[in-house]
Amino acid sequence: MATPHPLDTAAELDFVLALRRRWADRLYSALRAEYDDATASAPPENRAAAGEAAQTLSIYPWFAWMERGSQKMLWRAVESAVADIAPIQPPHAPAGSLTLDPDLAMPSWYTDWDIHVQPGGVWQSDMSAHTYELGAKLVMLGGNDDYTFHRAFVDTCLGPLHGQKVTRLVDLGCGFGKSTWPMKRAFPDAEVIGIDLAAPCLRMAHQKSEALGLAIDYRQADCRKTELAAGSADLVASTMLLHEVPRPVLEATIAEAARLLKPGGLLRMLDFQFTGDPFRDHHIACHGARNNEPFMPGAMSADTVAMCEAAGLKNAGWRAFDERGAGRLDALAWPERTEWHFPWAVLEAEKAS
Ligand SMILES: C[S@@+](CC[C@H](N)C(=O)[O-])C[C@H]1O[C@@H](n2cnc3c(N)ncnc32)[C@H](O)[C@@H]1O
Repeated sequence: MATPHPLDTAAELDFVLALRRRWADRLYSALRAEYDDATASAPPENRAAAGEAAQTLSIYPWFAWMERGSQKMLWRAVESAVADIAPIQPPHAPAGSLTLDPDLAMPSWYTDWDIHVQPGGVWQSDMSAHTYELGAKLVMLGGNDDYTFHRAFVDTCLGPLHGQKVTRLVDLGCGFGKSTWPMKRAFPDAEVIGIDLAAPCLRMAHQKSEALGLAIDYRQADCRKTELAAGSADLVASTMLLHEVPRPVLEATIAEAARLLKPGGLLRMLDFQFTGDPFRDHHIACHGARNNEPFMPGAMSADTVAMCEAAGLKNAGWRAFDERGAGRLDALAWPERTEWHFPWAVLEAEKAS
């Protein structure tokens, strides 16, 4: 196949981004308006009833098709944009480290389908990491090019530390490092460790961290079994990990995070929660299905607070999070918005002293 001209690639990326924005903004609000009209006399009381009502609406097939169709188009555009990109090179004289485990078995729930509809997932080759990196910007509707919400997470969620000095911070499911960089910037003297299953993402994370002057240690491991010492971390954090794993893995990940924490140490996990609005919650659950994130509804309805308590953590609870910049909100309640967006929330807990 002939390599596309860079202008064609840029036009393709712009087109897909515009299409996705239109889906999130115009199509979702039009669907909501049609739904509100149709159900005004008897508003559905739960997700299932809201789903039944939504599926009878004229806009629904367009909305549902566009959700998955535009995501597939996105990956096609991204794959051609990164087709000629250079392989990931190990940095010269790194200040941080990279520890890969060639014997680590990839769990079948991780490899059996292509997460986010990304062909081949994020773990198979260098190209997977390049594709994921560029795709992540478009998946967030172009609103995360400068990683605003990762910074907001660090600035508004990683405390208060009750005078405890942070000597070790662990980022579970660190991907290609975009969640880990602001953690290292906020705690420059701490040992910052990023854990992920995907070797290509870790190689990219390591290369980019060194280029950014951030000495971070990346390790390939399953979040359920990090092999780090018990009671060695002041902070254990994750962003967008919990909804990607089956419920038993979610529970084991929380238990492992609790094991890693020192007494008084903090757990902070940025993910998603149901909002109590049946229409919105139905469409988030459907997003899980249409976007190949099959564990999303199960993770969002799991009793993660009870899991924290069973793991020896206290003061567990969720707070809403505004990814546009404000970050952590004081309650599990979100500002009114008309466009489709994720119901961001933070799971907070601390290790009993
Ligand atoms: C949506 S990405 C989030 C990456 C990063 N935290 C961010 O915010 O950009 C989820 C990451 O979790 C990793 N992951 C999923 N399950 C895992 C597990 N059991 N152990 C380690 N990493 C896991 C995936 O490989 C992926 O890189």
